[in-house]
Amino acid sequence: MKETIYNEEELYSMLDSFLREPDDFWTEFYRDREKKIPFFKNLPDENLVSYLDKGLVTPGRVLELGCGPGRNAIYLARNGWEVDAVDVSETSLQWAEERAGESGVSINFIHNNIFKMEIEYGSYDLVYDSGCFHHIAPHRRLSYTQLINKALKPGGYFALTTFVRGGKLGGAVVSDWEVYRSRSLHGGLGYNKTQLERIFSDLHSVEIRKMKDMDESQQMFGLSELMAALFKK
Ligand SMILES: C[S@@+](CC[C@H](N)C(=O)[O-])C[C@H]1O[C@@H](n2cnc3c(N)ncnc32)[C@H](O)[C@@H]1O
Repeated sequence: MKETIYNEEELYSMLDSFLREPDDFWTEFYRDREKKIPFFKNLPDENLVSYLDKGLVTPGRVLELGCGPGRNAIYLARNGWEVDAVDVSETSLQWAEERAGESGVSINFIHNNIFKMEIEYGSYDLVYDSGCFHHIAPHRRLSYTQLINKALKPGGYFALTTFVRGGKLGGAVVSDWEVYRSRSLHGGLGYNKTQLERIFSDLHSVEIRKMKDMDESQQMFGLSELMAALFKK
C-alpha cells in the first residue's frame, strides 16, 4: 500500500515531505547570477585555503557536497586535487561548469541529491561542505554522518562551514522538533562547537572556530557568521 513505512528510507522520505523540496528551490535560486549573495563571488573559503597552506590536508581525492557554482571545487582542482563535486541544483552546476572551463580545470560535477548518490567505501581523502549541511533536515543528519564515514579513507578529513547559532545571516535557533511543527528549516539551522563535536563524534576534531571575516583585497571568502570545522577520520 502507498504511504506505508517499511524501512528507514521510507520513514525519512515521509519526513522530507514535510519540508521544502531542495531541487526546485536551489535551481530557482541560481537563475539570477547578479544577486548580491556573498558566496556568488568566485573565491575559495579562507578556512579551506588555510588547511592547504598549513599542510593539514594534502592533495588527493576530494568530494564536495553541495558545491553550488563551484568556487571551492575550482580552487581544489587548481591546487592538484582530483575533484568530484555534487549539487542538487541544475543551474548551479551549469554555472560551475562554465567557471571551471574558464579556469581551465577539470572537475567531475555530479547532478544529484547527496543522499541518493552512490559512494564507494573509503574512496576520498577529503570531504568538503560549505553551506550545505545547515540546509539538511534533522532526520537526515544521521544519513549525512554515515555518508561522510563511508566516503572517507581511514585518516581522511572532513571539513565544513555552517551557520553559527543565531547569526545575522541565518542560523536559526529552533529545536529539531520545531522544524517539523513549523514545517520549515527557517532559512538554515545554526550550530555551535559543542553540537558539531557531538554530531561528528565518530571523527576526531582537529579545529573548530568561527570563519574569519575577509575583505575584497584578500581574495578569499570569509564571514564570521559561519563556523569552520575540520575533522579527521
Ligand atoms: C548555501 S549553498 C552553498 C553553495 C556552495 N557550497 C558555495 O559555498 O558556494 C548550498 C548548496 O547546497 C546544495 N544542496 C542543498 N541540499 C542538497 C542536497 N540534499 N543534495 C545536494 N545538494 C544540496 C544547494 O543546491 C546549494 O547549491
